[in-house]
Amino acid sequence: MNIILLGPPGAGKGTQAQMLVEERGMVQLSTGDMLRAAVAAGTPIGLQAKAVMASGALVSDDIVNGILSERLDADDVRRGFILDGYPRTPAQAEALDALLAEKGMHLDYVIVLAVDEDALVDRISGRFSCAKCGAGYHDRYKLPKAEGVCDVCGSTEFKRRPDDNAETVRTRMAEYRAKTAPILPFYEAKGLVRRVDGMAPIEDVKAAIEGILTT
Ligand code: AP5
Repeated sequence: MNIILLGPPGAGKGTQAQMLVEERGMVQLSTGDMLRAAVAAGTPIGLQAKAVMASGALVSDDIVNGILSERLDADDVRRGFILDGYPRTPAQAEALDALLAEKGMHLDYVIVLAVDEDALVDRISGRFSCAKCGAGYHDRYKLPKAEGVCDVCGSTEFKRRPDDNAETVRTRMAEYRAKTAPILPFYEAKGLVRRVDGMAPIEDVKAAIEGILTT
């Protein structure tokens, strides 16, 4: 099973992807995580991406298509993958089609997390993650079970993303509306799109996605 999770910043793509990884053994392919790793490692791609990401704009199609293509060559993706944050432009959607055809892979669903944009700044400003394993949390909606201790790895170190500030979030949302939302008709024409209420509680969104994946 190979899927795309689609939705604006803070829609819950990463949260749902992590749960699919834990429960179904799928592989999360987050271009945002890949780019943040490149920035942290100071690679040439990371150096190019750093300022663009900090502004909330999109990194160039060539860069993200390149890193995704390389990642799709790893054996683990054959277990089934979740694309989280990719594709994000019509050119990326077309590049993905070509990459999948070339590698003998296919897409099963494009699951759209339908959300109210007004709620997203609140979600994003409350977000934090484990500094060691990356597990995601929220100040109100998803706290660790034991205060200050990661549920997954037991670490007590947490971090917040530098692009999770109100000004950058506005740019990220504008980029989504202008460049990412227009890819929907491309997947609608292929009959792959399924919509889920992304404003529902995390566990309900998860159940709705499970319902799609098991039909
Ligand atoms: P990326 O890392 O992909 O960020 P994003 O798309 O902005 O999405 P987020 O990670 O902010 O949101 P999410 O939907 O995963 O929400 P989450 O589950 O964490 O991209 C970052 C940057 O990298 C881009 O701006 C761009 O520069 C670059 N980039 C990446 N990919 C690119 C590409 N393909 N092309 C070009 N550039 C690219 O949830 C948010 C919070 O809400 C969490 O705290 C969570 O606990 C909480 N929450 C989640 N669901 C619910 C719920 N149902 N109810 C209540 N709270 C919830």
